[in-house]
Amino acid sequence: MSEFDAEAIDDHLAAPFRVEFYGSIGSTNDRARELAREGESDVAVVAGEQTAGRGRRGRDWRGPEGGIYCSLLLAPDLEPADYPLLTLAAAVATARAVRQAGVAATIKWPNDVLVGDRKLAGILTERVGDRVVVGVGVNALADRGDLPDGGTSLRAEGGTVDRAAFVAVLLEAFDDLRDDPEGILAAWRESADTLGREVRVETPDGTVEGEAIDVERPGTLVVETDDGTVRVTTGDCQHLRAI
Ligand code: BTN
Repeated sequence: MSEFDAEAIDDHLAAPFRVEFYGSIGSTNDRARELAREGESDVAVVAGEQTAGRGRRGRDWRGPEGGIYCSLLLAPDLEPADYPLLTLAAAVATARAVRQAGVAATIKWPNDVLVGDRKLAGILTERVGDRVVVGVGVNALADRGDLPDGGTSLRAEGGTVDRAAFVAVLLEAFDDLRDDPEGILAAWRESADTLGREVRVETPDGTVEGEAIDVERPGTLVVETDDGTVRVTTGDCQHLRAI
């Protein structure tokens, strides 16, 4: 199996991130948050295993050895209102890295990376003062049976699993996009499977059902419902069917 450590990532990497690598860690997001409090930025905290990984909306995120767990610590060059765009940029960058590994990937709003209907990667973005931590979890070597229902991995999809090369592609694709709000939205629209679909979104204010027609700054999903156009900023989205 190819090496997965800081040196192997650096060998592939052209983007301006310092890589901090751990064979195993509690949560790469937690480590990146510590570094944020120390004033650091442009650090990628990367691990092959997480023992206390966190997912969106307070959920746990399983982190068995054989994954790619990567948190980008950023001092964004964006208006704070646009920070949610960084999550979309990370989803686009992850989908690109998955494709480079030979697997056809799409994005489900706002930031799940899918292969068909199965989830291959998820993203958790957190703010720490003027810093932002964007954490990406990718199933790489796991068997489907060891993943939550509906999950898949690079290996299960027949992709090339070189985790160091994967991280380098992800960081470079992210770096290309991160300062360009309109470019992020355009790239997200191109990669997304959500637009043009009937969706159900569970939001804190209730369920929204209709056709997803667009994504707007800073990551708002526009849904055409029977009662008119609804803009959704946060929630769990389910794809119902293509229109
Ligand atoms: C989701 O719920 O879909 C988001 C999962 C995000 C998991 C990643 S793994 C790397 C980083 N560290 C964490 O503790 N969480 C994120």
